[in-house]
Amino acid sequence: MESMILQLSYLIGSITFIMGLKMLSHPDTARKGNLLAAGGMTLAILATIFLYRGENNEPLHNYIWIFAALAIGTVVGTIASKKVQMTAMPEMVSLFNGMGGACAMLISIVEYRHIMENVATHPVQAGTMTVVVLGMLIGTVSFAGSMIAWGKLNGSIKDRTIPGGQAINFLLFAGLITLVIIVVGGFMPDMPALFYGILILGALYGILFVMPIGGADMPVVISLLNSFTGVAAAFGGFLYDNPVMLTGGILVGSAGTILTILMCKAMNRSLKNVLIGSFGGAKAGAAAGNKDQGAFKEISLNDTATLMAYAQKVIIIPGYGLAVAQAQHTCHELEKVLNDKGVEVLYGIHPVAGRMPGHMNVLLAEADVPYEKLLEMEDANDQMGGTNVVLILGANDVVNPAAKEDPASPIYGMPILEVEKADHVIINKRSMKPGYAGIENELFFRPKSSMLFGDAKKVLQSLIAELKQM
Ligand code: TAP
Repeated sequence: MESMILQLSYLIGSITFIMGLKMLSHPDTARKGNLLAAGGMTLAILATIFLYRGENNEPLHNYIWIFAALAIGTVVGTIASKKVQMTAMPEMVSLFNGMGGACAMLISIVEYRHIMENVATHPVQAGTMTVVVLGMLIGTVSFAGSMIAWGKLNGSIKDRTIPGGQAINFLLFAGLITLVIIVVGGFMPDMPALFYGILILGALYGILFVMPIGGADMPVVISLLNSFTGVAAAFGGFLYDNPVMLTGGILVGSAGTILTILMCKAMNRSLKNVLIGSFGGAKAGAAAGNKDQGAFKEISLNDTATLMAYAQKVIIIPGYGLAVAQAQHTCHELEKVLNDKGVEVLYGIHPVAGRMPGHMNVLLAEADVPYEKLLEMEDANDQMGGTNVVLILGANDVVNPAAKEDPASPIYGMPILEVEKADHVIINKRSMKPGYAGIENELFFRPKSSMLFGDAKKVLQSLIAELKQM
């Protein structure tokens, strides 16, 4: 009976993961989806603690350790999630992901010791050893890589190109494959040091693999490492014959892989280019800087307010700078003020605007901007023609025409928001500095464009004040 309830709990847990993931794909249902999947996870954990029976039908006994770990994890996780700023979210995802990798690594170590202690009575099975070794290797790479990604995002680790890094990584990889074959094939069963050798080389590989990648490319790398953790957890599911762990692992693994591919596609870059190419940086910046861009026009707050007040339709393009300025609520207020004046306001959302997938959707949802007002890039481009004013708030690369016009540009081929189809383009940012790709933006020098300099929040507050006086 207990075993039946346990299996039923696992089934319910697996179903809630799938439903929760589906619900995460829409902002209206995302919160509920998250809670549903968390509820399923809680059920699966409690069922395992109280209903699982071991080899001789023994229940779990070390409850103090289990509940102490659960309590610490819950407190730390809750405080960290409540405190985290939206712009620091990729950093936190990376840290949590690293913990998942570490769990998979520890599970494999514990199981390896278990197998070796009982080797006299239970001969080692190659299948089980494969799962143990690969689970540890992938978990270790994910753990070490995620820690480096976390350090890079919070600024404690600087981007560093290691001399001969690629050759070292290749050697490490070859060493790892050799060790895995020896351990899994049981060629040197009396040398557990080889198993721990995989652990050390795996950790080194994870560190060196992430170290040279540009800090701003981290979201893609984190998503890739996330899929590694999923696969490592799925190996744990195999090992324990635990369907909920297997489902969870497979879902994380496939979702992470799909997200990695989608991000690369939206930036029009291959994964190889993200992992070993340098995007933008000094070289690209210098190349773009050599071009004579001409002069740019500035526009005053008063003129901006007048243009917008007399427009019929305005499209706002949010970007990373809006998130940095935390100006989403002020932006929503501007939208309402314009609506009161009879102006239609929509938002054009680029799939890689900001620094994480769905960044702008989450940011604007936080300010209660109605979801129907958010246009996906293709729809926004279709509507640009009939738009009087486009207001760009802290976006840069996602509106850079070089992506369409300059084959030499590092972002050539990336689909962009075609803002120049509108009558007027107003660009708010603090300076003429480039965005994430490190390249100049010719849009700022085009005839329809005007620069409105300043921090997005302050500029929006002043713009609202001007509009209210009209
Ligand atoms: P960016 O190209 O990074 O440009 C952001 C602009 O915001 C900067 O030029 C900056 O100019 C301005 N800014 C910063 N703080 C500001 C503030 N307080 N007030 C006003 N402006 C401010 O951003 P984007 O257009 O959103 O493009 C995103 C980039 O990130 C793309 O290149 C994309 O490929 C990359 N990326 C995205 C993702 C995902 S999944 N979203 C993942 C990895 C990489 P100033 O310094 O002059 O103010």
